[in-house]
Amino acid sequence: MSFYADHIFPHVLDIATRPFWPQRKEVIAEAYGRVLEIGIGTGANLAHYPAQVTEIVGIEPDAGMLERAGSTAATLKLPAPLILAAGDAQALDFPDESFDTVLMCLVLCTIPDPLKALQEARRVLKPGGQVIFLEHVRSPDAGVAKWQDRLTPAWKVLGCGCHLNRDTAATFKQAGLHFHRIRRYEHPKMMRLGSAIIQGIAIK
Ligand SMILES: C[S@@+](CC[C@H](N)C(=O)[O-])C[C@H]1O[C@@H](n2cnc3c(N)ncnc32)[C@H](O)[C@@H]1O
Repeated sequence: MSFYADHIFPHVLDIATRPFWPQRKEVIAEAYGRVLEIGIGTGANLAHYPAQVTEIVGIEPDAGMLERAGSTAATLKLPAPLILAAGDAQALDFPDESFDTVLMCLVLCTIPDPLKALQEARRVLKPGGQVIFLEHVRSPDAGVAKWQDRLTPAWKVLGCGCHLNRDTAATFKQAGLHFHRIRRYEHPKMMRLGSAIIQGIAIK
């Protein structure tokens, strides 16, 4: 990883995603049982885990982020044991049907193959398990989507792989996940290029 990715981007990420604090809280309130958090980043979601979780496993490919997640965890009183590990959402190192909840928060924009990641999430979910998610996605406004397409190549460099223009809801369906609940909205505090949001719960 580069100096930018390891030392600068984590700070940028924390500041840029502050407006998502209330939405993170809403989504993570749904977590229960054994939880796998994909791409845990700096650990921004850790403060929100509810009492009904029994274990939190956070995976992350970036060593700098993982270290920061550890530092964040050290400042919190978590409701369950936490395991942090290097890992890739596209090839999860866990057995089939081993988690009750998979959390995907602002990661499907960045993971190189989001379909593979969602197929892997589905594989490791127990029967009746859930993917809880909060993601910025391709705008339903054709004019904005056109700009998302134009700007994504440059944005990917600044955002360490982040795409502005992914139709993530379609990818969930392609992966064989069904929406138990989905809310689509414009985030009032985000710039228009990243304000189209999907939030909810998907099941096997
Ligand atoms: C925009 S950040 C979001 C971090 C965190 N989930 C949050 O809510 O603040 C995207 C994260 O996805 C991680 N990521 C990128 N590729 C990944 C992969 N193949 N598997 C798992 N995580 C990945 C990045 O390292 C980064 O931490």
